[in-house]
Amino acid sequence: MNALMIKALAFAAILMIATIYVVMSLDIDIVGDSVNAITIGGALAIAVITSAVSVKYINQMKTDTASGELAEENWDGIGEYKNELPSGWAYTFLAVFIWSMWYGMFGYPINTYSQIGEYNEEVLAYNAKFEAIHKNADAATLLGMGESIYLVQCSQCHGNTGDGLDGRAHDFTSRITKEQVLEAINNGADSLGYAMGAMPAGMASGADAEAIAIYVAGGMKGKQPASFAACSSCHGVDGKGNGGMSPNLVAYDDVLMNHVIKNGKKGSIGKMPAFKTLITPVQEKALTVYIQSLSN
Ligand code: HEC
Ligand code: HEC
Repeated sequence: MNALMIKALAFAAILMIATIYVVMSLDIDIVGDSVNAITIGGALAIAVITSAVSVKYINQMKTDTASGELAEENWDGIGEYKNELPSGWAYTFLAVFIWSMWYGMFGYPINTYSQIGEYNEEVLAYNAKFEAIHKNADAATLLGMGESIYLVQCSQCHGNTGDGLDGRAHDFTSRITKEQVLEAINNGADSLGYAMGAMPAGMASGADAEAIAIYVAGGMKGKQPASFAACSSCHGVDGKGNGGMSPNLVAYDDVLMNHVIKNGKKGSIGKMPAFKTLITPVQEKALTVYIQSLSN
């Protein structure tokens, strides 16, 4: 027996002893549990096979000489032999190829199943359940629910207290600021998707615009400036939006909340993303109740 064999046997023995030592320390049933027994057998086999294969190749490297036909190409004098495709590799390649065809066309046909689709269906099913359970939720439940959704979905921009983080997003402690009203007057507005469409720019200017903006931002209290006539055709004399035709400028009503959540809003202080289908009708109602509570 040569020195290499002795080293290999010693190596295999160390691996086996270490394996057995670890297994013993785990305090598991080996004899009575076939799965454990097979696992240990496998681990020991790997130790032996690793040693044997190493010996084989180390010996081969010592004695092997080059034979066979070299390919024409060489890289810096290093060439490659012309070898047959190893049959194991070729059959595996063919099998994987056939299997993937089966997988894509019959097993899980591409356009009949998708993980995202399944996820979406499950979400819809849960949303439906959620809607059914909370169909007649009372005001207190909606307020609590609204606050939770708000903290997760809205507070990162609007602030935990709804103050709009120093003008980074809309401030919910009042309906609208003077600057935001002036923004709409000067530049028009077209992102909320009201049935009436866009608000044209320049409906008032100069001192008139200023007076209107102060009046609207103040909650439309006190004497209405005569120039507000330019606004009342669309927003109503009371500024409440003509029954949902245009934004209610006095309060966060259901219609406004619905349009903002569905379409987002592009305005003077930035852009709010649309939430489209992310928020269910009950959640929307809850958010409305909560945001109304912030301005009261
Ligand atoms: C032709 C109809 C029309 C007139 C006139 C009009 N508006 Fe508007 N206004 C709208 C519509 C529609 C919107 C919603 C636009 C959108 O989709 O963003 C709007 C949006 C606004 C907004 C933004 C509301 C929000 O919460 O985002 C303000 C503020 C506003 N209008 C104020 C005024 C004032 C002040 C006047 C008068 C000087 C005026 N509007 C005249 C139709 C009108
Ligand atoms: C990425 C930041 C961001 C997030 C998240 C966000 N908003 Fe906004 N939101 C804004 C900005 C910015 C404005 C003001 C746009 C403007 O008028 O300049 C705004 C405006 C609003 C307005 C006033 C719209 C109007 O026309 O007066 C409401 C209501 C609103 N958001 C509700 C929500 C709700 C509810 C959520 C959570 C579901 C939410 N926002 C999440 C940035 C955000």
